[in-house]
Amino acid sequence: VKTMAPSKLDFTPIAPVDYLVDELNVPAGYTWKPIIRWGDPLFNDAPEFDAAKQTPEAQARQFGYNNDYSSIIELEGSKGRRAVMFANHEYTNNELMFSAEEMAADPARIRAIARAAHGLTVVELERATKTDAWSYVKGAPRNRRYLLDTPYELTGPAAGSALLKTVADPSGRRVLGTLGNCSGGTTPWGTILSGEENFNGFFRSAGTSAEDKRYGLSDKATRQGWELDDPRFDTRNPGYSNEANRFGYVVEIDPLDPTSTPKKHTMLGRLKHEGANVHVAANGKVVAYTGDDERFDYLYKFVSRDTYRDGGTTADREHNKTLLSAGSLYVAKFEGDSAAEIDGTGKVPSDGAFDGVGQWLPLVVDGKSAIAGMSTEQVLVYTRLAADIAGATKMDRCEDVEPNPITGKVYVACTNNSNRGKTGYAGPDEVNPRSLNRDGHIVEITEDGGDQTATTFTWNLLMLCGDYKQGDAVYFSGFPKEQVSPISCPDNVAFDSQGNLWISTDGAPSGIGYNDGLFKVTLEGAERGKVEQFLSVPRDAETCGPIVRDEERHVFVSVQHPGEDGTFAAPNSYFPDYVPAGTPAGRGQFAGPRPSVVQVLPTAHAK
Ligand code: FEO
Ligand code: CA
Ligand code: CA
Ligand code: CA
Repeated sequence: VKTMAPSKLDFTPIAPVDYLVDELNVPAGYTWKPIIRWGDPLFNDAPEFDAAKQTPEAQARQFGYNNDYSSIIELEGSKGRRAVMFANHEYTNNELMFSAEEMAADPARIRAIARAAHGLTVVELERATKTDAWSYVKGAPRNRRYLLDTPYELTGPAAGSALLKTVADPSGRRVLGTLGNCSGGTTPWGTILSGEENFNGFFRSAGTSAEDKRYGLSDKATRQGWELDDPRFDTRNPGYSNEANRFGYVVEIDPLDPTSTPKKHTMLGRLKHEGANVHVAANGKVVAYTGDDERFDYLYKFVSRDTYRDGGTTADREHNKTLLSAGSLYVAKFEGDSAAEIDGTGKVPSDGAFDGVGQWLPLVVDGKSAIAGMSTEQVLVYTRLAADIAGATKMDRCEDVEPNPITGKVYVACTNNSNRGKTGYAGPDEVNPRSLNRDGHIVEITEDGGDQTATTFTWNLLMLCGDYKQGDAVYFSGFPKEQVSPISCPDNVAFDSQGNLWISTDGAPSGIGYNDGLFKVTLEGAERGKVEQFLSVPRDAETCGPIVRDEERHVFVSVQHPGEDGTFAAPNSYFPDYVPAGTPAGRGQFAGPRPSVVQVLPTAHAK
């Protein structure tokens, strides 16, 4: 381990914040500012946000709701003063966006506004110098909203399959819209990946087939009710039986080209993708890790057929944009070496570690199905069923999975699993060692030989999250539990320039009773396992999309669903503008929460 210079992003950890507090808390000496909020206008013809007069047309030209993943890519030649930012819009909280009277008066209009608040956003940022805060640029040439009528090209072996054809798309290659976009990743070639996660909730289906059941598709009215407006959201309608098969993919968009057609990559399988993160292996192939965020679902790895071109030309970049379309897909199987000692309480095994070996079980190899009885197309559209047959390890909800750019080790955030060990469900094992896993854990994977394309690996648990003061059996790779910040429900991960892990959380308030936050974790050296809390988000919010630019002393997070458990009439949060309760909605004033992307920077630089 090489000695690291002291981080420029020095901070004193904040104390955990009670779940009723509606504040964004940052360390002493730092300040936070929103970069962009729900409803902020993106284009010159976009109206200013006015919650009392919102329309579908206005929302389609404004920043959407519930931003999750975020990415900032500086533009070449801008000397760090210009960038594109990506954000996705996973879902909407209609009861916070609209008054009860409004929703009752014109539900079809509400549904149309909600549809326009889903999807993706690319927006340009600018700043005067590299230490200043970013501002978004209204009307910039690369600004784009990706909406439900935006065409996506299906790529990979399942594109054009009979399983993906509908009456509206007999080619099986062109899908309108993306749904449930949760986390994501930024590729080495400067595109953005976004995971279509809980897509099933947008569809009404027969719900009787094994495939429907495995993906949670059922015959009940959806929360959004879009099946009332568009026949494709009810897959029982003639010609639309495959519509839900066209969601649940990793999406790739090019933020530098606002006219480009975004892609849905069937080669990475169809599941509730949290996100995907790409690493270039030593042999030039690219590897993408992706988790299926459902209790007892799986961890996957894609290995490309072709190799990465690092020449930096336009032709190289166009080539790299094809890499996720052909290759092999694997699913993880973990074996512990202390299995008999695992009793579900989180007690550390006698060999001192939760650890063992693992295999990447083949689902598709070089474009050919590795599952007896299933075609390649079936494996890639019904990936969960293929992985069931392969015998993968049932995990505690894999959220972000990301290789450390410095060490190549892979970190898997298992957020929680309320059903582990219950009657009728899988019991604890060494890689998911707690029954009724409330607080989650982090798996660290080392590919054999340091080769990211290997099919075998070793693994250990970096931490079992929780708060020892509340009686949780926690574990921080041997670091004293008394010296770490309490942490629960790890969700998104990021790395700083020195290879430290940063974890954002989703779900802590209902478990350990603290607001969700962002935490730095030391991975190497004597302080391995040390957890330090950097920020906490307002009431009911989750912390997503962390970006850590320690050289600039800048940290960015997405604040998703602030005040989620309240209502329009009685919000739990007023973040980020804190317009006083009871102020009537109007231009520039909204006495309720607005999901936002936030920048944290030294107070001296916050203008
Ligand atoms: Fe949308 Fe897996 O969190
Ligand atoms: Ca062990
Ligand atoms: Ca997530
Ligand atoms: Ca989550």
